[in-house]
Amino acid sequence: MPNSNTFDIKCIGRLIHKYFRPEFESINPFANKNRIAKITNDLNPEMGTDYCMDALDFLKQFADNSMDFVLYDPPYSPRQVSECYKKLGRTVNMQTTQASFWGNLKKEIARVTKPGGIVISFGWNTNGIGKTKGFQIIEILTVAHGGQHNDTICTVEIKNTLL
Ligand SMILES: C[S@@+](CC[C@H](N)C(=O)[O-])C[C@H]1O[C@@H](n2cnc3c(N)ncnc32)[C@H](O)[C@@H]1O
Repeated sequence: MPNSNTFDIKCIGRLIHKYFRPEFESINPFANKNRIAKITNDLNPEMGTDYCMDALDFLKQFADNSMDFVLYDPPYSPRQVSECYKKLGRTVNMQTTQASFWGNLKKEIARVTKPGGIVISFGWNTNGIGKTKGFQIIEILTVAHGGQHNDTICTVEIKNTLL
């Protein structure tokens, strides 16, 4: 069954730990209750993360090429964005639910990741951060949840060193 704590799903936890090293400079902009990354953020203050900011503003604080490892587990659809924002009493408008919501986040993740750094993206597709932003896919894990549920697709990418 799908679990709102994505990383508590055993095979997803194993995938993350295959690439993660504690000494890495690492961030998770949508951490919820998860504490794998060194620096965590979540819009919801109840999650007790290091930062409680909009993920895009959180990402903008970091220098270019400063992160070895980024976990990217945002809301997967405009509907999920809307549900999250309404739950937290935030305004939902065109900007918060259009494709640029994810596009802007990916641009920042590409900027802060070091060449040779790893990003693991979670969602319903394998777009990840993308080839055009200098990344290549090294592993994909599809997690089926049964019934009529969507799979969770985990895409592991490395940032090219020759840019
Ligand atoms: C899919 S969950 C992440 C689950 C997490 N990976 C785990 O395994 O526990 C998405 C999280 O993103 C947070 N969130 C939603 N929109 C956000 C935003 N714009 N900025 C920061 N956090 C946001 C939600 O509060 C929620 O905790």
